[in-house]
Amino acid sequence: MKVFITSIIPEVGIELLKKNDIEVIQNKSYLPLEKEKLIKKAKDCDALLCLLSNKIDREIIDALPNLKVISNYAVGFNNIDVEYATQKGIWVTNTPDVLTDATADLAFALLLACARRIVEADKFTREGKFKMWQSDLMLGKDLKGKTVGIIGAGRIGQAFGKRAKGFEMKILYYDKKRIQKFEEETGAKFSSLSQLLKKSDFISLHTPLTKETYHLIDKKEFNLMKDGAILINTARGEVVNEKELVNALKSGKLFSAGLDVYEFEPKITKDLLKMKNVVLLPHIGSATIETRNKMAELAANNIIRVLLGKKPLTPVNKL
Ligand code: GLV
Ligand code: GLV
Repeated sequence: MKVFITSIIPEVGIELLKKNDIEVIQNKSYLPLEKEKLIKKAKDCDALLCLLSNKIDREIIDALPNLKVISNYAVGFNNIDVEYATQKGIWVTNTPDVLTDATADLAFALLLACARRIVEADKFTREGKFKMWQSDLMLGKDLKGKTVGIIGAGRIGQAFGKRAKGFEMKILYYDKKRIQKFEEETGAKFSSLSQLLKKSDFISLHTPLTKETYHLIDKKEFNLMKDGAILINTARGEVVNEKELVNALKSGKLFSAGLDVYEFEPKITKDLLKMKNVVLLPHIGSATIETRNKMAELAANNIIRVLLGKKPLTPVNKL
């Protein structure tokens, strides 16, 4: 049995595959493979271990006749044509749970960085501008008692809510369904999207990218927000209309924004790069040593199980 790995991933995952007598073919580069090259290299593989930056479409799926499992090294799987894989009897798996806390931590780090202007203040200090203590230097926003709106209360959204509770914030959440346990644990209140947008001082996005969530935050939604709101996005860039985000930052509608993901990733809208009131990260939500190792193990174990004829641990489709 053969697996093709599209990029560099932690060694633990590779060792695990080899220990199970799976032949590993790996593209030892960080650059996303072009489609033709990926097809050529993965041609006779039984399993594909890929990243969120690999678009796995019909053409690729059709070109790999032995493929039994597509193991995504990410929790989000909008990069894969899951419907088509399912039609062809191919498992698609992701890496949930293991990255929940790391990603919620990063979202909260962005919230704090935006509220207290951490990055801007660091730059100010490095530039030698700290000459005296000033009563109005780098004034930010309090968290305690403020309302945070969580859009998408899945695993990561709920973990983010627990952190917000620790900072004594009020929580609103918008999701397809009510989640009793989350409400009991954090005091979070279920809300419509429009009420959440109107009432929240901070808004954090935790939805997957689907047809329904594409541009969920657009011109109309920015207009509904409170003046001086702070928006955090660690989910997927395409959930926000980035052009309207720039307008909301320019007009002062938003106090600031903390972004880990971008609509045209890895391209970043030029205007954002010039703004002081945005914190821009290179999609590092799950980037801790422990979490990335666990993701590699889980991605490998999903493959091992399928190649042994078993159901994978964390499938996203049903066969
Ligand atoms: C990262 O964005 C992931 O989906 O795991
Ligand atoms: C600030 O440094 C203070 O002591 O209030």
